[in-house]
Amino acid sequence: MPTKLFANSTVMDLVDFDQKSLLVAAGSIAFNPIFWNVVARQEYHNKVLTKLFGGNSRYGCYFLAAVIFGIGIFRDFLYEQALRQQPSLDVLQTDAVKLAALALFFCGNVLVLTSMWALGFTGTYLGDYFGILMDHRVTSFPFNVTDAPMYYGSTMAFLGSALWFAKPAGILLTIEVFIVYKMALMFEDPFTGAIYAKRERERAKKST
Ligand SMILES: *[C@@H]1O[C@H](CO)[C@@H](O)[C@H](O)[C@H]1NC(C)=O
Ligand SMILES: *[C@@H]1O[C@H](CO)[C@@H](O)[C@H](O)[C@H]1NC(C)=O
Repeated sequence: MPTKLFANSTVMDLVDFDQKSLLVAAGSIAFNPIFWNVVARQEYHNKVLTKLFGGNSRYGCYFLAAVIFGIGIFRDFLYEQALRQQPSLDVLQTDAVKLAALALFFCGNVLVLTSMWALGFTGTYLGDYFGILMDHRVTSFPFNVTDAPMYYGSTMAFLGSALWFAKPAGILLTIEVFIVYKMALMFEDPFTGAIYAKRERERAKKST
């Protein structure tokens, strides 16, 4: 009876909240999307990065891309470090769970990498905020599967790692990843939508 396994244990036993590394990883997960949204909006409104690079918006975008990529790698490192210090759960240590973990990790990374491929470099790294717009909305794979393949793919990869190492703390951090990405989407989608709507209005004006 699997339910019996949990009858005398709570989330407090499954996750070691005394480990500082857990808090650090949680902080890093929340920090990243907040960081890039704040910086991208500063760029859009005040051209901070373009100014920093002497008026070259492409260099500004490349710089932001490098920073976002770097803090992403660092967050993944902190996540792995945090999981190492967390208790494992026996019921998760089965071949079926390991297989599901591999599938999630693989599919998640396929979604992330193919969406980067479909969007291109500046499209992936917030080029819209720098005025580097795409000609058309990308609707090919993986955007025909989900609207936000990069976010959902990343979330799947986090869950895959949590299950692979059989760590309930990893599942908890994955829930946080899901929530911060959901919030990021609620913040980003209307904004980029407005950027493209403005471009359409300007195009319409030009053609008349
Ligand atoms: C839960 O019960 C099992 C079996 O009675 C015991 O071995 C285990 O230590 C208990 N776990 C906790 C967290 O009390
Ligand atoms: C998305 O596009 C791919 C490649 O073009 C195709 O194989 C797949 O069936 C499509 N998926 C959906 C859900 O439409």
